[in-house]
Amino acid sequence: MSANSPAAVVVLAAGGGTRMKSNRLPKVLHEVCGRSLVGHAVSAAEELTPGQLVVVIGHMREKVAEHLAAHHPGARAVVQAEQNGTGHAVRTALEALAADGIELDGTVIVTTGDAPLLTGGTLRALAGAHAEQGNGVTVLTAVVPEPFGYGRILRDEADGAVAAIVEEKDASDAQRAIDEINSGVFAFDAKLLVGALAEVTTDNAQGEEYLTDTLEILRRAGHRVGAVVAADYRDILGINDRVQLAHARRLLNDRLLERAMRAGVTVVDPATTWFDVQVSYEPDAVVLPNTQLQGATHLGEGCEVGPNSTLKDTRIGSGARVSNTTADGAEVGELATAGPYAYLRPGARLARKAKVGTYVEVKNSELGEGAKVPHLSYIGDATIGEGTNVGAASVTVNYDGVNKHRTVIGAHCRTGSDNMFIAPVTIGDGAYTAAGSVITNDVPPGGLGVSRAQQRNIAGWVERKRPGTTSAQAAAAAAETGAEAPTEA
Ligand code: UD1
Ligand code: CA
Repeated sequence: MSANSPAAVVVLAAGGGTRMKSNRLPKVLHEVCGRSLVGHAVSAAEELTPGQLVVVIGHMREKVAEHLAAHHPGARAVVQAEQNGTGHAVRTALEALAADGIELDGTVIVTTGDAPLLTGGTLRALAGAHAEQGNGVTVLTAVVPEPFGYGRILRDEADGAVAAIVEEKDASDAQRAIDEINSGVFAFDAKLLVGALAEVTTDNAQGEEYLTDTLEILRRAGHRVGAVVAADYRDILGINDRVQLAHARRLLNDRLLERAMRAGVTVVDPATTWFDVQVSYEPDAVVLPNTQLQGATHLGEGCEVGPNSTLKDTRIGSGARVSNTTADGAEVGELATAGPYAYLRPGARLARKAKVGTYVEVKNSELGEGAKVPHLSYIGDATIGEGTNVGAASVTVNYDGVNKHRTVIGAHCRTGSDNMFIAPVTIGDGAYTAAGSVITNDVPPGGLGVSRAQQRNIAGWVERKRPGTTSAQAAAAAAETGAEAPTEA
């Protein structure tokens, strides 16, 4: 907490969110760009380093509390058992702090748990204006094209100051025509807030304690009521249903992509590219269409990812190329390549210039520098040395039905196509294995591992056993033209 930090930020997140029509998730746990709605609110609040960060929870409170404990352990959850209004919610939060002996002095920011586009910067601007103007309360407002449902800002005709906020359900027709609305975000003087909340009644259309009533109460008591109008109304959009959820995701994604592009990332098709908030990147990374970067994915300098790729918590090294790939918890080294059609699962680590090719799945395995698994293979729980080439259609048979075992393949090996490595098994440096082998025993360095039956050919079998077939006809034609008949093995 610095000198300019608010004494507290209170995030209101107890409401039901009935319009989400969800049986599984409370509204504030729905996600936008890799973060829950309440997570966005708390993250913005954290940027202010408040003395106290309180989240008021109610609806499906166990789930919300668990989520906060896991992702925002610095936030204190306060239960509002019954949702008797936004004023009641703030009062409940302040009373919980007081019960713990915490007396607030200074600024209290009240914000909402369902406005994911609201940034720490906007909260800071609000707190700054509030302090500069010496207000008792400052409300963040916006002029919106469609004010329906929001509280309207009533301004004094004489001086233009905010006089009151009237809710949609309590407003007259003339008041409903006002297009400046309450964002639901405020800066208060802590002591004045406590006093004003004590005067709030439930005498309104919804029978609730409205936080918004505190503005009129404070103004009548002679305190300054200020307003900050959001530069872009879209920054304060609240989410009530899944249509608005998708809209907010689009807007936030656009914001994240713009930031990436300004930092030197080429996004070929912003319409089909999705970034989570935690994604990071270096200049000259190129993102091809239909690509989703999730979690803490990182793009190294000059790498190319996509098209059609979903990368979660994955690091892509500089100059690496990843196409048509799904990756989760993987590391792709500098100048390494993956795909098309690769599946990199947690713990897949590709060193510099390593290659994972087409229809290859890698899990919990390291590929050394320049190692290649080019085609149709499963590599699980394996270590593959530098410069080694694994033949097409190979499988590390890592699971005996009960336990997982490791396959170790040394450096500069050449393993044949269609090998089964029955783990635990070790192939020494520089060793070869023959195509079609089932490798159950270790192969010493420089050795050749081969385990397959001798082939034998039975001459004339088709003519005898499949007479009259096109195969028999083709064989007969070959015999006529004197094609060299292979000798019987
Ligand atoms: C509220 C404002 C309205 C503003 C709008 C902005 C009031 C009376 N009205 O209306 O002026 O334009 O937000 O979106 O404040 N909540 C609780 N406990 C409660 C009630 C609500 O925690 O008892 C939380 C909700 O979870 C939500 C926020 O407070 O995050 C706003 O509540 P909501 O019911 O959505 O208020 P609105 O009717 O939208
Ligand atoms: Ca709302």
